[in-house]
Amino acid sequence: MQLERTHKKLGLRGLEAVEIVENLNTSLSTYQIFYHKMQNFHWNVEGPDFFDIQDITEKLYKESMKNIDTIAERVRLLGGVPNYRLSDYINNSKIVEDTHDLSGDNIKVILLEDVETLLKVLSETADYSINHNDYGTVHVMQEMIHGLEMMHYKLQSWLK
Ligand SMILES: [Fe+2]
Repeated sequence: MQLERTHKKLGLRGLEAVEIVENLNTSLSTYQIFYHKMQNFHWNVEGPDFFDIQDITEKLYKESMKNIDTIAERVRLLGGVPNYRLSDYINNSKIVEDTHDLSGDNIKVILLEDVETLLKVLSETADYSINHNDYGTVHVMQEMIHGLEMMHYKLQSWLK
């Protein structure tokens, strides 16, 4: 029996591939805003949590940069164009730009909220990909989701 497997998603043949790219671009935009927020916190936090927050936000923005690149290249692989304008990031992100309250207590709450939002957005992209048999995108999302879940559990333990 011959296995039939047409890679119709590669090169955007089919509406579903276009929609996967849209999903990925939402994840990409959300990650970009998150990345810049982490840098802001890293640079500007003040107070008794300075060292903890400097360390954790550096870890988060470095990890985000890697994931942003992976998502963008996944979009290219599918034949799409990754969002690249700052205005597109702001308009498509599910995370809002931060407030000017840079106290440690406020940053801790925002960190937890934003990681939860990222998890939701990436899970939606993964769900969509699973439903359309795009296992490559599922794999990419799964790895990122696991990393964020680990961070979420650590943040929750820290905030108790
Ligand atoms: Fe630094």
